[in-house]
Amino acid sequence: MKAAVMYQKGELPQYVDFPEPVAQNNDEILVTVKAVALKHFDKGRATGKHYSSDAPKESGRVIGGDGVCLLANGTRVYGMGISGMLAQRATIEKHRIVKLPAGISDATAAALANAVIGAAMGLRFKANIKPGDVVLINGATGFTGRVAVQIAKHYGAKKVIATGRNQQSLLDTLTLGADEIITIEQSDENFAAQLKDIQAASPIDIIIDYLWGHTAEMILASLMGKGSFTHKTRFVSVGSMSGDLIQLSAANMRSVDLQLTGSGLGSWSKDEVRTLFSEILPEMFQLAADGKLKVETIEVKLEDIATLWNRDVPNGQRLVVTI
Ligand SMILES: NC(=O)c1ccc[n+]([C@@H]2O[C@H](COP(=O)([O-])OP(=O)(O)OC[C@H]3O[C@@H](n4cnc5c(N)ncnc54)[C@H](OP(=O)(O)O)[C@@H]3O)[C@@H](O)[C@H]2O)c1
Repeated sequence: MKAAVMYQKGELPQYVDFPEPVAQNNDEILVTVKAVALKHFDKGRATGKHYSSDAPKESGRVIGGDGVCLLANGTRVYGMGISGMLAQRATIEKHRIVKLPAGISDATAAALANAVIGAAMGLRFKANIKPGDVVLINGATGFTGRVAVQIAKHYGAKKVIATGRNQQSLLDTLTLGADEIITIEQSDENFAAQLKDIQAASPIDIIIDYLWGHTAEMILASLMGKGSFTHKTRFVSVGSMSGDLIQLSAANMRSVDLQLTGSGLGSWSKDEVRTLFSEILPEMFQLAADGKLKVETIEVKLEDIATLWNRDVPNGQRLVVTI
């Protein structure tokens, strides 16, 4: 079969002929792959930078963690790869699949899944979002951030504040449901002043953070209290696009009713992952099929994988390899 294979971590993946995978037990099934999104998770694992990366293999590894595929009986599903999914055939986990509704394209479903995981798992299980909550999304201009804006609204957020760097994509979030936008491309003083104004007008219940780094430092500092009662804020780290480390003052932590947590592989319970496959993903695929959850994808070909690998994709779009 044709596949995108990584031989050495840090090098470009190659489009090559590779042996078809074989299901190893009753929990695995062999599928025909239709579409796989190129996202940070896949790149991080392929380059060895993601904390869940496998050790490199001299014979090479097929890359790609999840995607849209056809079961042997022709049913179209979203599934999680056991073997790499950027290939014509892959083995997937039999119990971690979601049947796709008719109205969603392969590319949209393939791109949406990871973003739903990056948005809904944090909002629901780490921040316990409730109708009426005020939600700030730091890094809302990316593909996952734009989905998070829409899902926060779907879950009943009263107000969604979107922060980000790309001005066009930031403006787009207003059409996706954001109520207010704040550019991070401004002086620290002005950014801090805008955060303070928001906190004073409508205290923030939830922060979903895709950036970490300096903007996360600024946002956490803006919550600093003065020793009297404060509003409870749940801060959920989901990504770290602008750096893996921050400085956080202990006094800052003690001065405010702050819950600081993360959402990612390893942070969810088995029940939460079951709910992802039985409820969350089916609901979000249906919303997208009904045109109520919007994403933008760019379809590309598997044979071009080496040139696509480091391609920059602006304005919150996602590259999706269709096979
Ligand atoms: N834990 C999970 O379950 C999970 C799931 C999905 C995603 N994630 C993580 O979430 C993060 C975002 O993912 P994504 O899918 O939205 O990626 P994406 O579509 O590539 O978007 C990346 C975003 O990061 C911003 N960005 C990049 N470098 C930046 C910098 N130095 N300073 C400020 N902003 C910067 C971009 O800003 P502009 O567009 O404004 O320029 C864009 O908004 C990644 O770290 C990803 O690994 C985690």
